[in-house]
Amino acid sequence: MGLVPHALAPHIPRDENEKGTLMSSESGSLEALLDENRRFAPPPGFRDKANFGDPAVYERASKDREAYWADWAAQLDWFEPWHTVLEWSPPYAKWFLGGKLNVSHNCLDRHVQAGHADRKALIWEGEPGDTRTFTYGELLEEVCRFSNALKGLGVGKGDRVTIYLPMIPEAVVAMLACTRIGAIHSVVFGGFSPESLSDRNNDAQAKVLITADGGWRRGGVVPLKENADEALKASPTIEHCVVVRRGGELSEQVGATLQEGRDHWYHDLIADASTECAPEQMDAEDTMFILYTSGTTGKPKGVVHTTGGYLTQVYATTNAVFDLHDDDVYWCTADVGWITGHSYIVYGPLANRAQVMMYEGAPDTPDRGRFWQLCEKYGVTVFYTAPTAIRAFAKWGDDWPAKSDLSKLRLLGTVGEPINPEAWMWYHKVIGGERCPIVDTWWQTETGAIMITPLPGITETKPGTATRPFPGIEAKIMNDAGEERSAGYLAITSPWPSMLRTVWGDDQRFRDTYWSKWKDTYFPGDGAKLDDDGYFWILGRVDDVLNVAGHRIGTMEVESALVDHPSVAEAAVVGKKHEIKGESIAAFVTLKEGYDGTDELLAELREHVGKKIGAIAKPELIVFSADLPKTRSGKIMRRLLRDIAEGRAVGDTTTLADPAVVKRLQEQHEAEEG
Ligand code: WTA
Repeated sequence: MGLVPHALAPHIPRDENEKGTLMSSESGSLEALLDENRRFAPPPGFRDKANFGDPAVYERASKDREAYWADWAAQLDWFEPWHTVLEWSPPYAKWFLGGKLNVSHNCLDRHVQAGHADRKALIWEGEPGDTRTFTYGELLEEVCRFSNALKGLGVGKGDRVTIYLPMIPEAVVAMLACTRIGAIHSVVFGGFSPESLSDRNNDAQAKVLITADGGWRRGGVVPLKENADEALKASPTIEHCVVVRRGGELSEQVGATLQEGRDHWYHDLIADASTECAPEQMDAEDTMFILYTSGTTGKPKGVVHTTGGYLTQVYATTNAVFDLHDDDVYWCTADVGWITGHSYIVYGPLANRAQVMMYEGAPDTPDRGRFWQLCEKYGVTVFYTAPTAIRAFAKWGDDWPAKSDLSKLRLLGTVGEPINPEAWMWYHKVIGGERCPIVDTWWQTETGAIMITPLPGITETKPGTATRPFPGIEAKIMNDAGEERSAGYLAITSPWPSMLRTVWGDDQRFRDTYWSKWKDTYFPGDGAKLDDDGYFWILGRVDDVLNVAGHRIGTMEVESALVDHPSVAEAAVVGKKHEIKGESIAAFVTLKEGYDGTDELLAELREHVGKKIGAIAKPELIVFSADLPKTRSGKIMRRLLRDIAEGRAVGDTTTLADPAVVKRLQEQHEAEEG
């Protein structure tokens, strides 16, 4: 039985390929996707015990969305109740107006006060195999100590703190400590370059930087303090830098030096700090954190999230989507540097009193079975990862997971990019033993929390679709004119609690990027299709944002990094399909007079991009070209470049200023590939 009644599937006119804007080259495989008719109902045993097993929740939520969200919010502790659930003056939403709460109190004190001080909160393993565990009581003490240490450095409510840490428990402690004292954190992924770090420090005008001497990645050391030192040369607003000693062999190897007056060891700061620190009473709409994400310009934007609505929706979605129970051991493999780490390693799970697994390193260190060994060792029951990882695991072969006992797993999740049905089926069979529901969750840095997803005890899933909006969320598919269609752009048609409130310091950009396509409707930048069951099939970005191994990278960012090199006159960057990463970066580069496209220069350009942005942004393919295909009005024709990069027959070139350019480029590309 399909658990989504057909009455819920709206009858919507189809007009395929409206204006040809929507991924025309992919429509073939898309039709195949929509023909996907394998269906997986929740196993009865799972449904019976699920937090949500009754589809009536959808109706209840849509009848009175504000009451529904208020019910969730009321499960948290509030110092003062809200007087109004929602004030919506598009595009500005305020949730739980007048309410006062504290995030760290809700993630820690609330559980300790309810008698759960000895329950495990964080179960951590480092890449070399060292382990640390914090109970809720211990985590609260550590957070209080560090909160007091931050106060001692002059950090107060509203101040910005940059966190540039590896996946170690102190990352969680630092985030929670900021929320405890009302400071606004901006976590920067440890793989970003010094320049990316200083850009973010400066945009946020951060006062304090928290880093570590280093972290382990694939057996090598990520020299975070060295990068931080480099970044600090260009970060005038940073007054203090706190350095966590990662410990073990790493710290001996790195031997970080601290600059007198500016730098402080974390362990020195907390040594004498009090284990008590009263949580700041924050207004529901006070800014909780900023997280930078790539957009369609060269400059990443600081997505702003506030306190009450964000915590409510991450709490609700973690509870309902991951179906957490007391005996679950929950593991999300994301890095805290991304929104998934914020919402589904730290805030959502801890607000739900979950036992959270955290792992520092790579999935193939020391061997390709590491994740499955961790699942067995810690008895992981709920596992949340990304399609790019699943495709890599599938490629590495079934023998690796077969070596470990994965029988405790009961629920699997995926996020970050569309999952292809083959990868979904592999996940279902080989990891889930055909008994675990899979929740394919669609959401974004900007949405703060999961928006479109199955509920594992209710929804019949199909490989490749995120299924339906979470109860209380309203989504549609629309064309450019804002008319509802069964194929087009994904649209979120009413405000939700964890929505971004603005772009830090750039309100205009907030309105232009998300709210200018249609009236009072949020534009996420994804293409989508609706099937006859009313399920949403997310197809990927329709703007100049790439999704490389689940990481968002703006083509303009990479282009700016390339033209920053003295040899480059012009660069055009496009996405190229990639078996594991989903997409990889292809760059077409025109050199300045006097430079030759040698292999050395090619390597240098890749390094240059790595240095400017971070290793994740290094182009996989660079094609040197005397010119780029442009329209007569001078616009670079990216569609053609994509065709060339993927080795496809090139479509219509009649609008090109010089059609011969394409032929030259193709020859060039073939020579380089071959
Ligand atoms: C893509 C990650 C298909 C999408 C939480 C979105 C997905 C972007 C899915 C946001 C999914 C995320 N199916 N596509 N389940 N989840 N995406 O901000 O293109 O890093 O716009 O947030 O990832 O990426 P972000």
